[in-house]
Amino acid sequence: MKKLVVLVGARPQFIKHAPLDKVLKKNFDVVLVHSGQHYDFNMSKIFFNSFGLSEPDHNLNVGSGTHSNQTNKMMVEFEKILLEEKPSGVIVYGDTNTTLAGAIATTKLNIPLVHIEAGLRSHNMNMPEEINRMVTDRISDILFCPSKIAVENLKNEGIKSFFSGDVMYDAFLLFKKGVEKRVDKRFKKIIQDKEFALLTIHRESNTKKNVLKRILKNVSNLNMRVIFPVHPRTKKILKTFKINRNIEPIDPVGYFETIYLLKKCSIVLTDSGGLQKEAYFARKFCVTLRSETEWVETVRNGYNILLPYGEKLDENIFKRFKPQKYKYFYGNGKASQYINFKLKELL
Ligand code: UD1
Ligand code: UDP
Repeated sequence: MKKLVVLVGARPQFIKHAPLDKVLKKNFDVVLVHSGQHYDFNMSKIFFNSFGLSEPDHNLNVGSGTHSNQTNKMMVEFEKILLEEKPSGVIVYGDTNTTLAGAIATTKLNIPLVHIEAGLRSHNMNMPEEINRMVTDRISDILFCPSKIAVENLKNEGIKSFFSGDVMYDAFLLFKKGVEKRVDKRFKKIIQDKEFALLTIHRESNTKKNVLKRILKNVSNLNMRVIFPVHPRTKKILKTFKINRNIEPIDPVGYFETIYLLKKCSIVLTDSGGLQKEAYFARKFCVTLRSETEWVETVRNGYNILLPYGEKLDENIFKRFKPQKYKYFYGNGKASQYINFKLKELL
């Protein structure tokens, strides 16, 4: 069997890899590498446990740092693994520093590079993720896009790609049935049956103290209970000021708990890429706390609206939910099978 190195490192990447893990193992000798970008239990191990993923074969343990510091450490350590493992190909997911570091180290060794979740664009070069994804797409050999718009974006840049559908949709379909059983009673008791909004914030631009403070003040105007699983980046800032009592911060939760909250909530408020889509999968109204999105289909279809910083949020926001006929923009839940099939053919 040909050897395939798969690099993960941040929360959404564990989720993206989950549906592919078993599928790829049928045809490839899979070596799983964890960069160590996310390391708290609730940001990493919880996902390996809940998806039944085996321990990574290598952990680069790079931890946190400035962009260049973190990316540099990952490249140096990942290169060592590639020289040792000599794979026939490397898979990277999404747009994090782990993605960028993995992509550069791989391509410099002339190893075929596979980018899953290619072609997304926010057209905002101030976002670290936009730089990561543009560079990764440019140097990848095989690119799999989650949406037709992503394929078009790449075509406009002269890059050929495949429309695979979204592996996060695969994950959603694969795991959603188990949610009620997998979420424990204590968690359900805390959540109760009262109406609530689900809030997540972690973007670099939204976690500057004054920006975060203003967003949370705005969110409290919704006059509704708000459940807020707090990303560690956000937690550091949140500690420095008081928030309104209708906002209930909790530790980051696992995937099953997130989908449970998503199913029960009345509205999603988020700057997360993954959660915007999951809201769409669950057919919920999503307010994206940003001025642009990579998941433009969800906005065009009336399920998602953009709320740029400074724009008012209150009960009237619900009037802006104008869902149109539901469309399956992100494939048929078999993106993982398609990717596996194509890799078998191409590598
Ligand atoms: C990263 C990605 C972002 C993705 C997000 C998913 C980049 C540039 N950004 O952002 O695209 O949406 O992951 O969640 O790669 N920290 C902890 N414990 C952890 C992890 C982080 O305390 O387990 C804290 C550290 O103080 C760290 C900060 O969070 O400095 C930010 O972490 P980092 O991985 O650099 O960026 P994210 O905001 O998580
Ligand atoms: N998520 C989670 N626990 C949380 C918050 C989010 O499991 O407390 C999941 C969420 O369901 C989605 C993914 O994490 O699948 C999104 O990751 P994140 O928002 O950190 O990053 P992004 O998608 O913006 O890159």
